[in-house]
Amino acid sequence: MLVNTKEILSAAQKGRYGVSAFNVYNLETVQAAIHVAEAEKQPVIIALGERYFDTVDVEGFAALVKTLAEKSSIPVALHLDHAYEKESIIRAISCGFTSVMYDGSRYDLAENIRFTKEITEIAHMAGVSVEAEIGSVARGAFSDEEEGDGTLTDPQSAKKFVEETDVDFLAASIGTVHGMYTGKPNINLDLLDQIRQSVGIPLVLHGGSGTPDEIMKQAVAKGICKVNVNTEVSLAAAFYLKQAYEQGQQGVHLSDVMAGMQKAMEPVMTKFVRLLQNQDVI
Ligand code: 13P
Repeated sequence: MLVNTKEILSAAQKGRYGVSAFNVYNLETVQAAIHVAEAEKQPVIIALGERYFDTVDVEGFAALVKTLAEKSSIPVALHLDHAYEKESIIRAISCGFTSVMYDGSRYDLAENIRFTKEITEIAHMAGVSVEAEIGSVARGAFSDEEEGDGTLTDPQSAKKFVEETDVDFLAASIGTVHGMYTGKPNINLDLLDQIRQSVGIPLVLHGGSGTPDEIMKQAVAKGICKVNVNTEVSLAAAFYLKQAYEQGQQGVHLSDVMAGMQKAMEPVMTKFVRLLQNQDVI
């Protein structure tokens, strides 16, 4: 069933587990995410980034996700990831997204608060929940996201930001990167503790790909409720595609390749869904 993202993340916060937010771009990525979540009996967040609005028909995509969600036995949320433009947010809300992320991380704190507050006022009127970010996630290898400067989140600024904007979830920058790490990951879990003590709303970790399993488990234990995953899943599909063409005869057919890519993505997604469960109750 399709549910509000806030409902999914409030339950996650209470149950001290994390929910995967998989970035998707086509039918196979959506099917893979829902298929895996159903097999694991876990909720899932389907996330479409504003950067894909040029290539994905947003209204058609929303209708597709809503139909698959309604058929599904698990809670599914539909999220707009990294939106920089108010128009994109209004478009997503109009076609039934259950949450939106406004990314004002490029602005200074005062401006980020001003713009984010305007978004929360609009989204909340429509019953849609809002994620926002302070600090900025840097970009590693193979990522499709904007370059961030890697500024870590300041706990006091986070407190002020949440109080003044009324956001529902906060993306905290603690050293993860969008994409694969090019060196040893340097993730500051003490900072996560401090942010957790400063704000009460569910926290979001961007840059799930390549983050060591142990760090991921600790991050969830320390209050991360949503983990965004894109690059690692995309790499699994792209690698499959490369192999299919290298090994295939002349007659590789797109329909087989698409189904193969979905199959290649699913084990990676399963790994994340399992990692984010409350390790105390497994
Ligand atoms: P990764 O590409 O590192 O998994 O990050 C995805 C993300 O955070 C999207 O918002």
